[in-house]
Amino acid sequence: MKKRNPEMKKRGLLPAFLLLMLLLLSACGTPTESPAAVEENPLIVVGFSQVGAESDWRNANTLSMQTAFSAENGYRLIFDDAQQKQERQITAIRNFINQGVDYIVLAPTTERGWDTVLTEAKAAGIPVIIVDRMIETNDPDLFTCWIGSDFRREGDTAVAWMEQTFGDRPLSVVHLQGNIGSSAQIGRTDGLDAGLAAHRNWSLVFRGPGDFTQAKGQELVEGLLADGVSFDVIYSENDNMAYGAIDALKNAGLTPGKDVTIISFDASSTALHMILSGEISYDVECNPLHGPRVRAVIEQLNAGQIPPKYTYVEETAFDKNSLTESLISTRGY
Ligand code: AHR
Repeated sequence: MKKRNPEMKKRGLLPAFLLLMLLLLSACGTPTESPAAVEENPLIVVGFSQVGAESDWRNANTLSMQTAFSAENGYRLIFDDAQQKQERQITAIRNFINQGVDYIVLAPTTERGWDTVLTEAKAAGIPVIIVDRMIETNDPDLFTCWIGSDFRREGDTAVAWMEQTFGDRPLSVVHLQGNIGSSAQIGRTDGLDAGLAAHRNWSLVFRGPGDFTQAKGQELVEGLLADGVSFDVIYSENDNMAYGAIDALKNAGLTPGKDVTIISFDASSTALHMILSGEISYDVECNPLHGPRVRAVIEQLNAGQIPPKYTYVEETAFDKNSLTESLISTRGY
């Protein structure tokens, strides 16, 4: 018998090894996801820079985005929580650019300070979609489109309710602001300022930033009560600060909704229940369910269509007359 050359024996091993690897790889894939199918329909990679987790609104918004950009829907979402810090968002965007994502979605902390990093994204050819708050820039080509709320209209809606409820009666107002420089703060503050200018009997007894968090809202109102400041109305720029304010009032033996009128923004489920129980008097909706809206925009872009540059979400407002348990249960946040 002819003896086999050992070198040939080694060479013969390589194709067998490759065949084995191929068999193993195909055994790992699901029947519906053969390597060829994955190649035909690769997941769209979306880098999402989120503001943080400061509020119920924000958590509902994160969930909405994560649900919309699931693998089942054809996406790989790279999520970054910036903990309310713009520097962290800028770093996250640079990371997305380095990773070569297909789209960048930015929920900006504040309006200013984005030009440099968005110029980098533009140079890399990555479309940027701004969601929720707005950015301030002289170059509208730095982002593809924006979807969010009309925060000034929200402020005006709250003030219209104050006018209807209190007219020109003397009114002492405490104003809990969100993150200074964010669109949500700017619009809601501008609305109140217009109301204060139009009503000489309304006076602002305190204004300060509570960063949209419950802890800060509570801390600010506790401080006011400790200083003996008295007031009729709390205009809280989001629900979580209102929850903190309510805790502070209750701890001081006051009855929210009776001793002090609370006006808030977001209309999240807990707050709407507080309207039914009488603790919050009026809540202007800010809708966080942007996931499907942003996905629709990406689908349009993928299909070569041009989505609208600006999309304002339709929103409403609630008092106890316009609310029922069953309505709350259908709202999804
Ligand atoms: O930008 C939307 C605002 O941000 C919401 O009102 C607030 O709750 C959130 O933190």
